[in-house]
Amino acid sequence: MEKGTILVTGGAGFIGSHTAVELIEAGYRVVIVDDLSNSQESVIEAIAEITHTPVDFYEVDCTDKEALNELFFKHKFNAVIHFAAFKAVGESVENPLMYYHNNLLSLINILELMVEHEVMNIVFSSSATVYGEPDELPVTEATPTKPAHSPYGKTKQMAEDIIRDSARAYPGLRAILLRYFNPFGAHPSGLIGELPRGVPNNLVPFITQTAVGIRKELSIFGGDYHTPDGSAIRDYIDVVDLAQAHVVAMERMRSGVGKSACEVFNIGTGQGLSVLELVHQFERATGVKVPYRVVERRAGDVEQIWADTSLAANELGWKATRSTDQTLRAAWAWEKHLRGVK
Ligand code: NAD
Ligand code: WQD
Repeated sequence: MEKGTILVTGGAGFIGSHTAVELIEAGYRVVIVDDLSNSQESVIEAIAEITHTPVDFYEVDCTDKEALNELFFKHKFNAVIHFAAFKAVGESVENPLMYYHNNLLSLINILELMVEHEVMNIVFSSSATVYGEPDELPVTEATPTKPAHSPYGKTKQMAEDIIRDSARAYPGLRAILLRYFNPFGAHPSGLIGELPRGVPNNLVPFITQTAVGIRKELSIFGGDYHTPDGSAIRDYIDVVDLAQAHVVAMERMRSGVGKSACEVFNIGTGQGLSVLELVHQFERATGVKVPYRVVERRAGDVEQIWADTSLAANELGWKATRSTDQTLRAAWAWEKHLRGVK
C-alpha cells in the first residue's frame, strides 16, 4: 500500500539515493529532483534496479522556482525531504556566494512552494557542523551551537533558523531537522554509494581510494590532538542507517506524533572513533593495508565530536544498527566496483 508521495531533492546524491531506496521499500512513492551538479543520472537507474520500481526523476535546479512550481502542480506531494545543497567545506570558503545562493535559495524556494501548495511536512539535512567545537561530549540537541567555521556550516545554521521560524509562523507546517554526524559506507547491493569528485575531502573515500591504489598515501590531519592516540575523533554513521532515520522521521510526521512544529535529532552512532582507529579498523575488516602519514592539522577541523543519540532512540525509535566493520567493508566493495577491481 502506498503511503504517500515524497519529493526528494538531491535524491541522486550520496545520502538522497540511499534514502530514496529505503522510502520506496517502506511503501512511499518518491519523486526525485536533482540538477546533477554533484551526481549522475545512472544513480536513478540504480535506485530503480534495487527497488524494482520505476522512479520519477526531474533534472531541475532547486534555485529555479518556476521549474519547481510546475512539479508541485503536477504531483500531490505529502512531504519533502530536502537534501539538495553544495557540501564542500573548503570550496565554500573560496566561493561563499555560490554556497549561500545555492543552499539558501533552494531551501527558501522549497518552503515557499510548500506553503503555497499546502505541503506541510519537511525533513531537512542538517549537520553536526552546527555544533562547532563543543564544550561538552557527547553533544545533545540542547548543546549550544557555536559560530560555524565555514560558509557551508553557516548555511546549515541559517537553514535551521529559516525552517524554525517558518514552522512557527505558518500554521500546520512541520519540520524535522536531522543533524547527521559523519556518513559513510554504501548500499549492500553494491549499486549505489559515494561518488566524490576529484580528490576526496572526506576520510573514508580517501581511505578506500588509497587502498585501491589511486592515492599513494593517506594524510592523517593532526597527531597532537588531546585524544588518546592524538588523532581527531568523529562519529561515523552508516549511510543506510542514516537513510532509515529519514523513513522513521516521515512515519512520525504521518502519524502526527511530535512535541513541536520543528524538532531536531542527532543522527549518529553515539560512539567516537579516532582517525587512526578507523584506518586500523579498515585494515582489519578488509585485510588491505592503507599507507598513511600523520601530518599537520587541517584548518577548521574540530578536535572531537560524537553524538548523544538518546533523543532519536526515545522519540523516533531509531538507532544505528550496522557495525563499523560491516560499513567499512561496504565502502570497500563500492570502491572496488567503481574501479572494476575484483
Ligand atoms: P551529495 O552532493 O552527494 O548530494 C547532494 C545532491 O544535491 C547532489 O546530487 C547534487 O547534484 C544535488 N544538488 C545540489 N544543488 C542542487 C540544486 N540547486 N538543485 C538540485 N539539486 C542539487 O551530498 P550528500 O552527502 O548526499 O549530502 C546530502 C545533504 O546532506 C546535503 O544537504 C549535505 O549538506 C548534508 N550533509 C551531508 C553530510 C556528509 O558528510 N555527506 C553530512 C551532514 C550533512
Ligand atoms: C573526518 C576526520 C579529518 C581526510 C565534514 C564536514 C561536516 C560534514 C561531514 C557535511 C577529520 C580527518 C580527513 C583525510 C584525515 N559534512 N581526515 N585525512 O571534517 O568531520 O566533517 O564532513 O555537513 O560538515 O566538515 O569529515 O571526513 O572530512 O574528516 O585525517 O584525508 O578525518 O581531519 O578529523 P569532517 P571528514
